[in-house]
Amino acid sequence: MTIVDIHTHVYPPAYMKLLRSRTTVPYVRTFPPSTEERLIILPGENSSNNSTARGRPIGPEYYDFSYKIAFMDQHNIDISVVSLANPWLDFLPPSEAAATAKDINDDMNTTCGSYPGRLYAFGTLPLSGSVEEITEEIRRLQGLPWIRGVVMGTSGLGNGLDDEKLNPVYEALQETCQTMFLHPHYGLPTEVYGPRASEYGHVLPLALGFPLETTIAVARLILSGVFDRYPSLTLLLAHSGGTLPFLAGRLESVIAHDAHLKTTNTAPKRSIWDVLSKNILLDAVVYSPVGLKAAVDVAGADRVLFGTDHPFFPPLDGEEEQWLSVTTNYNAIKDAFGEEGVADCVLGDNAIRLLNLDAKV
Ligand code: URA
Ligand code: ZN
Repeated sequence: MTIVDIHTHVYPPAYMKLLRSRTTVPYVRTFPPSTEERLIILPGENSSNNSTARGRPIGPEYYDFSYKIAFMDQHNIDISVVSLANPWLDFLPPSEAAATAKDINDDMNTTCGSYPGRLYAFGTLPLSGSVEEITEEIRRLQGLPWIRGVVMGTSGLGNGLDDEKLNPVYEALQETCQTMFLHPHYGLPTEVYGPRASEYGHVLPLALGFPLETTIAVARLILSGVFDRYPSLTLLLAHSGGTLPFLAGRLESVIAHDAHLKTTNTAPKRSIWDVLSKNILLDAVVYSPVGLKAAVDVAGADRVLFGTDHPFFPPLDGEEEQWLSVTTNYNAIKDAFGEEGVADCVLGDNAIRLLNLDAKV
């Protein structure tokens, strides 16, 4: 059987150069006397006086593709669909966005081509540029042989994914049959984590902020009627959709009881369950059979896809051969579904079919 990792990141060399040239988030720098480079990307992780609490160490596993291949070999992964890691190009001045996206996408495509059949990629959009530039890049990506869709955060053009100005972007994605991989970055406002948040490292923003951000973004998308307007738009949700599988029933019920939506006739026309089973793919990066079974219950066994989130969540003890973050997800699949059937679908068959990974290039 073939194992496919659809949630795996990279910061290609051109992006690293950009991060190293910056002094505000996102950036990469050393904190002397240490010579180790650190990656500071999240909104709340720039203020600590303690360098080990600031961002995370960044080494070649983030930017050297030979490390990606070695990681894949070590964890029996046959194919990876790589994506630029957060915060993508969200922060770029509008005038630089289109050219940078083109450079990075061409670079990703060429690198994938140098490991034929082992690497594919989700492209990156120039979201701070004009809508015309964004849709032009979506159409251009369709012609790059190793690209299988786009990765996007939750900010859209700056006002979230329910922004009507994004309609041409959704239309272009639907028309070109490209999957939109939705990934969190911004979390929740830092106040919600309370005054002791810095004592807890990255736990609250990563374990809870990230999935809740995704949940809210998708709920807003559904409420704004995007899936009524673009009925074949496909979204792949990071971290099994955050809490969406668990909260879908509540969302559906609250919509059905909302007098304002009824009076204004603005409730989404399609049910949440219909959208979840036809437009949504969920990754299997949820670290437990409980979440995994919920993902399969709502999206279907044919729409949940294995991922690792590499190179994030490395073993804290650098000696370990197998990454705990990966073996936990492998074990969750085995515990939830055994060793064949649904397990094979989640581990690779779904990705191959849905992302067309066996097409001749
Ligand atoms: N932390 C991030 O910033 N991004 C990820 O994808 C995972 C953890
Ligand atoms: Zn990720």
